[in-house]
Amino acid sequence: MDKCVLILAGGKGKRMKSDLPKVLHKVCGKEMLNHVIDVMRKSDFESINIIIGKGADQVKIATKEKNVTYSFQSEQLGTGHAVMCAKEFLKDKDGIVAIFAGDAPLISEDTVKKFIKFHEQGGYKATLLTSILEHPDGYGRIIRNSQDGVERIVEHKDCSADELKVKEVNAAMYCFDIKILLNGLEKIKNDNAQKEYYLTDMIEILRKAGEKIGAMAIDFEETLGVNSRVQLSEVERIMRNRINKKHMENGVTIIDPNCTYIGEDVQIEKDTIVYPGNVIEGNSIIKEGCILYPNSRIVSSIISENVTIQSSVILESKIGSNTTVGPFAYIRPETSIGSHARIGDFVEIKKSKIGNNTKVSHLTYIGDAEVGKNCNFGCGTVVVNYDGKEKHKTIIGDNSFIGCNTNLVSPVEVEDNTYIAAGSTITEKVPEGSLAIARSRQVNKKDWVSKNNLKK
Ligand code: UD1
Ligand code: CA
Repeated sequence: MDKCVLILAGGKGKRMKSDLPKVLHKVCGKEMLNHVIDVMRKSDFESINIIIGKGADQVKIATKEKNVTYSFQSEQLGTGHAVMCAKEFLKDKDGIVAIFAGDAPLISEDTVKKFIKFHEQGGYKATLLTSILEHPDGYGRIIRNSQDGVERIVEHKDCSADELKVKEVNAAMYCFDIKILLNGLEKIKNDNAQKEYYLTDMIEILRKAGEKIGAMAIDFEETLGVNSRVQLSEVERIMRNRINKKHMENGVTIIDPNCTYIGEDVQIEKDTIVYPGNVIEGNSIIKEGCILYPNSRIVSSIISENVTIQSSVILESKIGSNTTVGPFAYIRPETSIGSHARIGDFVEIKKSKIGNNTKVSHLTYIGDAEVGKNCNFGCGTVVVNYDGKEKHKTIIGDNSFIGCNTNLVSPVEVEDNTYIAAGSTITEKVPEGSLAIARSRQVNKKDWVSKNNLKK
């Protein structure tokens, strides 16, 4: 028996007033559609097929690593029409197809699994998820018959005054018997307020054909769909709280969960403390005992044990244990910093390796370099990695002392146990154990001020 899922992601998303396809708007740092795909992946479907239409190319690019297939809906004629566009995908399958919307990212793996079980055990041909909304504006209403069975779904714009009062809404999440769905799709018409082919009409069609229809009510939060930027922010808030709560339950201190922005795929170990204003994104891993003082952005980086970070930006890099970063450091992609190191204020490091115990305390740029352990960088050091055409590499050995305001013109090598005098511009190799001085000698012109009548 086949078990597959369709995700509807072809709609225009007019109400978002955006050039970006609606399903690519992000919630907690990840596209809504990718949230839905990730949940479905965890819910044991054999295959995931996405209906794309508006911005199809962009949607494909954003989901290219997800191992999904696509059906193309060239004209957005409604959710029923969208499913018709997946006929090719469904036609040789027999079993169940779940259908979810790419604009409702709060659905949980747990609910999806329960839903499929409910559908299978109930022997239903169609099952839908519903919820009770205090303000059901915009949603399709669930109309039940005298035996409490679901009779049909009426879209908001097609509702009578009485139907508008119904608070039970359609989540746009369904399970169908594949053969029965394919059959019923033929019967959907577009004689409604929006002149669209509504998937919701399937319920009435199957009811009339005497098929068994199930409905499972779930918490409204999981069903929320995003049609506008206001709803986007509401969904963001709910997901943020969910994520933050999970970390707190795992032993992370979050000083102010309302002002802490952690992506869904971020891992944080216990006894780490996160102050307000931190944004942690991508696949970042923050190990035990770190302190993230206010206002850092950390993207897809690994922060080892007991690291302290203050007001800094760290992108796709690794920070070793017991190291301190910031305030106001900028660690750019492909950087790896050792343990017990210190990266201080106004330091930028790009695509470089910095050894254990090395201190880069202030106002320094290091790019395309390999720096050993136990080094000390004086204030204002610049690795001159770019000659206007190409980037070059600099290598600095262990135990090097780089005096203040040094330029290291790449490519250049500084060997182990060396000293560089302050203000040097290093263009040649500094051999092991030496002191390099690369600046003109100081000249004092005696009585120059009085001779030139400049004394004040
Ligand atoms: C839909 C349901 C409504 C439900 C609500 C829950 C229908 C007719 N209505 O309404 O009962 O309460 O979701 O959020 O199904 N899409 C396509 N192609 C299209 C049209 C839509 O792929 O031609 C996709 C959209 O990208 C979106 C999803 O289907 O991901 C839902 O479409 P949307 O237009 O937002 O439906 P609603 O009006 O919200
Ligand atoms: Ca919607």
